[in-house]
Amino acid sequence: MTVQCVVGLQWGDEGKGKIVDALCEDFDVVVRFAGGANAGHTVVAGGEKFVLHLIPSGILRDGIECVIGNGVVFDPEVFFEEVDSLHSRGVGTEGRLFVSDRAHVVFPYHKALDGLKEKDRGSGKIGTTARGIGPCYCDKASRTGIRICDIIEPALLKQLLELNAAAKEPLFAQHGEPGIDADALYDSYLEYGRRLAPYIRQTRPIIAGAISGGKNVLFEGAQGALLDIDHGTYPYVTSSSTGLDGVNSGSGIPVRGIDRVSGIVKSYCTRVGDGPFPTEESGDAGKHLQDKGGEVGATTGRPRRCGWLDLVAARYTAAINGVDGVIMTKLDVLTGLKEIRVATAYKHGKNTIDEFPASLDILHDSVPEYETFTGWDEEITGAKSIGELPAAAANYVESVEKMLGLPIEVVSVGVSREQTIFRGE
Ligand code: GDP
Ligand code: IMO
Ligand code: MG
Repeated sequence: MTVQCVVGLQWGDEGKGKIVDALCEDFDVVVRFAGGANAGHTVVAGGEKFVLHLIPSGILRDGIECVIGNGVVFDPEVFFEEVDSLHSRGVGTEGRLFVSDRAHVVFPYHKALDGLKEKDRGSGKIGTTARGIGPCYCDKASRTGIRICDIIEPALLKQLLELNAAAKEPLFAQHGEPGIDADALYDSYLEYGRRLAPYIRQTRPIIAGAISGGKNVLFEGAQGALLDIDHGTYPYVTSSSTGLDGVNSGSGIPVRGIDRVSGIVKSYCTRVGDGPFPTEESGDAGKHLQDKGGEVGATTGRPRRCGWLDLVAARYTAAINGVDGVIMTKLDVLTGLKEIRVATAYKHGKNTIDEFPASLDILHDSVPEYETFTGWDEEITGAKSIGELPAAAANYVESVEKMLGLPIEVVSVGVSREQTIFRGE
């Protein structure tokens, strides 16, 4: 029996979807516990590409049960688009996809407010995905949110929508925008509630029962630790706990019940949206990573900013998450670079920093200190073991492992399930 959690250790898009899909052959239940439709998890299965925003990546394997936990902010519109698209491609969801009755619902007004708040921030904008994530978590914390168990109770839904409409009216008015049409939302979200009925469950007992029944359960992180509301590059973060600490609040399963935490890093680093990125590389190497890595946001279509692997950040995020082993993705993207750099510390004025700083000013003024590695030109997308990699690529993996102080247990060398090297096998 294994209860494992896979989390991103950078700014998201580390390849969590691909890795969850590659791992979950051995699992019975896959759980999303945080974030919402801001996530974009790309999985290539049987040569077909799927992009999942809300539904756990385990859905693409027959027989796996998938749970959307209470910590997810749930957008019914996106959910049904995803369900319909999966059904049209022959992937069934009936009887194996469950949504927590405690999850908070994202309404169109959350998305509108997301846009208005970004506009107000001007040049200090976060660069959100515009999916209403921040405003929905904000309502949750303000205790004005509406949960899935509320949208299936007509009188309660009406009352809560009217309360929200009244409370938010001044915000919209301030921007010259029409307010919330509570009646129209009541009709459409009551209908979503009806359609959702077969999926709605108390999900904690499903997961807890699977664990006590000896089944293997995989928790699929969304976003990455540097986007975490507490530990990330605040305020340039998302509004949830993206890591191990989110598992308990977002699913009801105690973290001490988790046997293994796997942290995913790309062999380099990317970020979508605004905010500090000390190892960002705007020159030829950055362009190489962009082009060869296909670094375009799966949710927003925005180009991802690219740069070198940052071990100051990765050591910090691995420690926060109690990572047992690391999974390195997209090693193949480094093929063709003459030199590869890895940040091992930052220089701030005369000081050397090796603990990831909180202050945006310090981060901005920090200059990474790099270790430089020789690149390789051979294609590595068919490698089945570290031994089959060119010596320079194997050296890169083994050196990062040493510098990080954690074993790199899996190395991904391409988009498909098969292009995954499990070390020690
Ligand atoms: P996630 O949000 O962490 O699931 O990551 P995304 O799916 O947003 O971004 C990762 C992208 O890299 C996707 O397009 C994947 O298909 C792709 N990918 C994942 N692993 C590899 C790999 O090892 N090599 C290459 N070339 N692409 C990969
Ligand atoms: P996955 O699960 C990359 C970023 C946004 C923005 C910040 C806040 O695919 O790794 P939000 O809409 O959450 O309020 O935006 O967080 N962001 C992501 N970046 N991958 C993601 O998810 C992200 N989810 C949010 O770009 O900078
Ligand atoms: Mg993504």
